[in-house]
Amino acid sequence: MSPSIWRLWLTRRYPRRLGLQTVLVMAIVSACLTFYLRGTDPVNYGECKRPILELWHPSIRHHFSTPKPLTCSQSPKNWVYVKNGTFVISEEAIKKYGNVTCEYRPLVRMDDNSEVLRDVIRPFSNGTRVVSDFFETKCNSQKGHVYENIHTAIKPEQSVLERAKAKRLPQNAMGLNVMIFGFDSVSRLNWLRNLPKSYAYFTEVLGGVVLEGYNIVGDGTTQALLPILTGHTDLELPEARRGFPGAKPVDGFPWIWKDFVDAGYVTQWGEDAAGIGTFTYRMLGFKEQPVDHYYRHYQRLAEAKYYENNPRFCMGSEPRLDIMMKWMRDFFEAYPTLPKFTFVFHSEYSHEYISTLSLADETLRSFLQEFKTSGYLNNTLLILMADHGSRYAEIRESQQGKYEERLPYYSFAFPKWFAEKYPIAMKNLRDNVERLTSPFDIHATLKDVLNYTDLGSRVQSTRGMSLFQAIPRNRTCSDAGIAPHWCTCLVWKETPLTDDHVISAANQVVSTINDLTNDNRQLCVNLTLDRIVAASKFSPNEKLLTFKRSVDLDGHSGDFSDKMAPDWEFYQITIKTKPSDAVYEATVTHDMFRQNIIKLASQDISRINRYGDQPHCIRDRLPHLRPYCYCTVQASGGSLGR
Ligand SMILES: *[C@@H]1O[C@H](CO)[C@@H](O)[C@H](O)[C@H]1NC(C)=O
Ligand SMILES: *[C@@H]1O[C@H](CO)[C@@H](O)[C@H](O)[C@H]1NC(C)=O
Ligand SMILES: *[C@@H]1O[C@H](CO)[C@@H](O)[C@H](O)[C@H]1NC(C)=O
Ligand SMILES: *[C@@H]1O[C@H](CO)[C@@H](O)[C@H](O)[C@H]1NC(C)=O
Ligand SMILES: *[C@@H]1O[C@H](CO)[C@@H](O)[C@H](O)[C@H]1NC(C)=O
Ligand SMILES: *[C@@H]1O[C@H](CO)[C@@H](O)[C@H](O)[C@H]1NC(C)=O
Ligand SMILES: *[C@@H]1O[C@H](CO)[C@@H](O)[C@H](O)[C@H]1NC(C)=O
Repeated sequence: MSPSIWRLWLTRRYPRRLGLQTVLVMAIVSACLTFYLRGTDPVNYGECKRPILELWHPSIRHHFSTPKPLTCSQSPKNWVYVKNGTFVISEEAIKKYGNVTCEYRPLVRMDDNSEVLRDVIRPFSNGTRVVSDFFETKCNSQKGHVYENIHTAIKPEQSVLERAKAKRLPQNAMGLNVMIFGFDSVSRLNWLRNLPKSYAYFTEVLGGVVLEGYNIVGDGTTQALLPILTGHTDLELPEARRGFPGAKPVDGFPWIWKDFVDAGYVTQWGEDAAGIGTFTYRMLGFKEQPVDHYYRHYQRLAEAKYYENNPRFCMGSEPRLDIMMKWMRDFFEAYPTLPKFTFVFHSEYSHEYISTLSLADETLRSFLQEFKTSGYLNNTLLILMADHGSRYAEIRESQQGKYEERLPYYSFAFPKWFAEKYPIAMKNLRDNVERLTSPFDIHATLKDVLNYTDLGSRVQSTRGMSLFQAIPRNRTCSDAGIAPHWCTCLVWKETPLTDDHVISAANQVVSTINDLTNDNRQLCVNLTLDRIVAASKFSPNEKLLTFKRSVDLDGHSGDFSDKMAPDWEFYQITIKTKPSDAVYEATVTHDMFRQNIIKLASQDISRINRYGDQPHCIRDRLPHLRPYCYCTVQASGGSLGR
């Protein structure tokens, strides 16, 4: 019995009145089914083919809008800032308000859910070294104005410096700092929509590589970050959920930053949205501070005491995103010679909305530029990423939204020297762009940064595979640890050549080819369809279509009652044309959402037999038309030269 039938049966038998009970029964049933389904259904056979998603498909386009600009700069300019660990009172404030005197209260962690402001240090004058990563400051001016705010800094502790200096980078380590910056809930396509300037800078100037087959393995942020940071799902790790018997804080998890500490790195981790912290909301969080520099307590105090008096997205005159990015920069500035691992994750712009992220584009681009000019990227693996796509309800109800939720943005940029020193690793990473990859692979990749050996062809296919190895083309979702309802690989079916859709797709391919040569019709023959050689159909897998949401907070079991019919299907067809005897393979989209239109782009057509001398009449002048042009005048005898 499929879950949707169960639900129907339940609601029929017990109409309405037992909301909670029904949910509980459903949860148990679905949990069993989810467990049964996991790993039993490989979904894709052979190469993982994903749908060709349009950036602005009409099923989702109407959800986007232009956000109101930020208003942070309308607030009075902050009086205080920190420059490489030094407390600075801005000259601008002094000019405007007269001499300024400040006091300083260090913010100190107690445990994950409490912190204290220590005794006031007064006065705290311009040019003094900060004594803590975070502090509250109050300043009075000669003219009677008052400034009050909290600030971030990096204060290197002696113990951290000594610890790091006592370790040695492992012999096989790649010698890279690791800088990971992420946005919550951003699919690859939504990154392109909202962050075009940053994307262009990242790919064109920094040579960044963006994964296209990066597929989530669970629901929500925790399920996305745990596999990256520990190599495991929560079910495989010790119980840490609030209210569950035997639950303990997450300190004992095999966090990747522990490996980096052992290798002599200093570490930093931070996220905004402290109220729904990734490891503190449903889990018990950390007993001991997990990394050397930990953002949580700044964020908690900011949310509790300062957010309500600040415009949205701002702290004083600064956007909150800028504060996080500066904190990363400060970390790099504070430890110029030690290896560094940082992960900073921002959710405010993108967690609930799909268009406000565009407010981050200029900030992100200019920080990338600053990181580059200051030389921080010279020894750094820069990762820009997201945990999953938008889970914002309306977009998730469309098929495109379902796919985007499962295909978050994930990307890497290496320093220039990397490709020369590790040519095989770099080539593999590039080849892996279109292959099926997952958060488990990111974990394996980070491990490789500390211990890289070129395994050549002896690559073992495991759940988590380093992206410096070649991921097999035919890797399946179950190989990669991706449950069927998260799997974006399309399901493949052989299709009769007489199918109406196949025939109209074949005609569409011929007319698209003819359109390409239309301007040169005196030279190139108008081709006709000789025959259809092969056809197969790729459709969304049913588990993905019927999965509505998780029924428990931890995302361990699903409600499979969604009744979504496919919005599109893809045909891969092979045809032969007359008179050229040319064989073409093409991927054609049948878009049911848009009145059954059949569409394809010329880049989705490839000629798979030789064209020889057929296009001799345009060969030199119009080389891009060679696969499509059969010259009206053909040399007798023909030749197979290419
Ligand atoms: C401001 O402070 C500086 C040095 O602390 C002092 O030289 C100057 O006279 C002060 N200016 C005023 C207007 O009090
Ligand atoms: C504060 O100190 C910085 C250097 O630490 C200096 O550049 C700046 O001029 C000082 N500002 C004032 C108002 O003295
Ligand atoms: C920043 O401060 C650290 C010491 O905390 C020092 O080692 C480093 O050289 C400084 N960097 C710059 C650019 O001044
Ligand atoms: C980055 O490294 C290269 C070569 O090692 C060096 O020439 C360049 O000056 C460095 N750039 C910065 C900004 O440090
Ligand atoms: C490094 O990886 C190799 C296998 O590739 C393994 O045998 C070795 O134990 C690893 N070294 C460390 C320090 O983890
Ligand atoms: C994938 O291909 C490799 C080699 O081409 C083969 O050994 C393996 O069995 C294939 N795996 C699957 C799941 O088809
Ligand atoms: C070219 O061929 C197509 C069939 O593929 C036909 O429909 C069309 O009319 C032809 N055009 C010309 C100009 O002959």
